[in-house]
Amino acid sequence: MTTGKPRVLATRHFPPDVEARLAANFDAVLNSEDRLYDGPGLIKASAGCDGIMCAAGDPLNAETIGSLPDSVRMIATFSVGYEHVDVPAATKRGILVSNTPDVLTDATADIALLCLLGAARRAHEGTTMLRTHNWVGWTPTQLMGVHVTGKRLGILGMGRIGQAVADRARAFRMQIHYSNRSRLPADLEKGATFHANPDDMLPHCDFLSINAPMTAETRKWVNAERIARLPKGAIVVNTARGGVVDDEALIAALKSGRLAAAGIDVFDGEPKIHQGYYGVENAFLLPHMGSATVETRNAMGFKALDNLEAFLLRKQAPPDAVKAS
Ligand code: DGY
Repeated sequence: MTTGKPRVLATRHFPPDVEARLAANFDAVLNSEDRLYDGPGLIKASAGCDGIMCAAGDPLNAETIGSLPDSVRMIATFSVGYEHVDVPAATKRGILVSNTPDVLTDATADIALLCLLGAARRAHEGTTMLRTHNWVGWTPTQLMGVHVTGKRLGILGMGRIGQAVADRARAFRMQIHYSNRSRLPADLEKGATFHANPDDMLPHCDFLSINAPMTAETRKWVNAERIARLPKGAIVVNTARGGVVDDEALIAALKSGRLAAAGIDVFDGEPKIHQGYYGVENAFLLPHMGSATVETRNAMGFKALDNLEAFLLRKQAPPDAVKAS
């Protein structure tokens, strides 16, 4: 039965309020079982669709986009990161792409601080000790971690999320260093030290937080050479994208003690993460939860819908269109 409304494929099961609005305004093809589409599955499911609402990890690579039905005019991703969508391939086919900036800044910055503190204060070892009934009681030398207050925090990528991480870290009187494509104006820099070359920042990082998007330039940026430039006993935090880290190098540095710890929310090849992480006790690991609050996930969905509605219902430019770089 045709509703006369544009048809939109939801590639994942989205929060209930988001799906309710999607279904009210579009001829929605939902995925209530949240099955994972591979490329051919996605192409088949989008038959007759005008738009696709997708999410991080969906295989919207050049091959998939090249074979999408001609009816597809827009891809709105339920994420701020859009490395899973080949934007140049979409542009070539005249398909618009949008993302969800701003709304997950605070939730992601909160998780970065959780990772930073969890790694520094050996949270994984502590909770494991307790939950496996191995806690013998308080001892003067038990689970001594790394002090956070007053330490130097280097931030790679000082966009909205990097700045929100810096704001939170200032509450711990951390000294902020950062590297970014361009230097921030003084009111946003707030006294942080800018390093035009990110490699020059590394010796100043007791903590290094990755807040840069995944690009050809940042792929495996945290490698053995760069880890060697960090002070011995530094802590690495990654809440951006797993691909920015060379897993082998990070795991080796955690095992050898070159790094004291790592706090990681994102992994290359999620959910099939590098097996080595399971064996390192000084890694505080989370399953890509940066934006996982009810408020944030709703806001992401509503933003994706704002974009789809602007373009498919009102023939306006989507407010968060992304461009092929
Ligand atoms: C994003 O939006 O890019 C997040 O990583 C998904 O939570």
